[in-house]
Amino acid sequence: MGLLDGKVVIVTGSGGGIGRQHALALAKEGAAVVVNDLGGARDGKGEGHAMADAVVGEIVAAGGEAVANYDSVATVEGAQNILKTALDAFDKVDVVVNNAGILRDKSFANMTEEMWDIVVAVHLRGTFCVTHAVYNHMKQRGGGGVIINTSSTSGLNGNFGQTNYGAAKAGIAGMTRCLAIEGRKYGIRTFILAPVALTRLTEDLALFQDEKVKAAMDPKLVSPLVVYLASDLAKEFSGQTFFVGQGRIAEMRVVTHTGVTKTENGGLWTPAEIAEKMTAGEILLPD
Ligand code: NAI
Repeated sequence: MGLLDGKVVIVTGSGGGIGRQHALALAKEGAAVVVNDLGGARDGKGEGHAMADAVVGEIVAAGGEAVANYDSVATVEGAQNILKTALDAFDKVDVVVNNAGILRDKSFANMTEEMWDIVVAVHLRGTFCVTHAVYNHMKQRGGGGVIINTSSTSGLNGNFGQTNYGAAKAGIAGMTRCLAIEGRKYGIRTFILAPVALTRLTEDLALFQDEKVKAAMDPKLVSPLVVYLASDLAKEFSGQTFFVGQGRIAEMRVVTHTGVTKTENGGLWTPAEIAEKMTAGEILLPD
C-alpha cells in the first residue's frame, strides 16, 4: 500500500533536478505520474524528449506508472496538452506540482527585456497556464485536488542578480495564496515551496562549491514534503509556504508588525513623527 495509490500526479519540469526526484518519490508511493519536461538547457534554450523519457523509464523499471509529455508550460496550448496527456493515460488529475524553471541572471542595470520576459513566461505564466487548466478540471470533477507551486527564497527574501526570477517567484507565491482561498470550497489545497538543492540551476553558486555543503544539498531531500502535501496526511492544510532542503522543513510567512496607530488628527502622521517612531523601534519588526 502506497500513500498515493490511485492518485494521478503531473510534475512539470521533472526530466531532471528537483522535479525528477518529485516524480520518482510520488511514483514510489503509488501515484501514476505525468513526467513533463521541455528538455532544454538551463537557460531555456532548446528542447528534446530524452530527459522526460529517461525519468519515465526509471519509474516503469521500478514497477511504477508514468507517461511523458514534452510541452512547454509557458503557453495555454502547452498546458492544455499536459492535462490531455494525463486524461488520455489516466482519466483524471489529483495533484499538480509546478516545478519547471529556467534562469537568466543579470544585475538589474543590465537586465534586458528578453531576459525578463522569458523568465516570467516560464515561471509565472507557466504556473498560471498549467494551474488554470488543472484547477478547472479538478473543479469540474468535484473530487478536490492538490496544487503545489515552486517559489524560491530569491523571490520571498531577495537575491542579487535575480530581479526577473525573484519577481516571477514572488508572483507565484501571491497567486498560490489567493488560490488557496478560492479553492477551499472545492477541496482544492494549494502550497508554496521554497526549495534549496544542488542542481544544474545552482551548481555554479559560490556557496555550493564546498564539498560538505554539496553533500547536504541532494535534491531528493526536497521531495518527501511534496509526497506528504500531496497525500491525505496533509488534508487539514492549505495555503502554507515551506522552505525545504538540507534536511530542514520550515514554514515561511509574510508577517505584519503591530506597528503604531495614530488616533489624533484623523490618523494623519507627520514625517517627523514617523521618523521619531522609526528611531524608537516601534514600526520595524524586531530582527
Ligand atoms: P533544473 O534545471 O534541474 O530543473 C528544471 C526543469 O524544468 C528542467 O528539467 C527543464 O528542462 C524544465 N523546464 C524548463 N523550462 C520548461 C518549460 N518551459 N516547460 C517544461 N519544462 C521546462 O532545476 P531545479 O533546481 O531542479 O529547479 C526546479 C524548480 O525549483 C525551479 O522552479 C527552480 O526555480 C526552483 N528552485 C530551485 C532551487 C535550487 O536550489 N535548486 C532554489 C529555489 C527554487
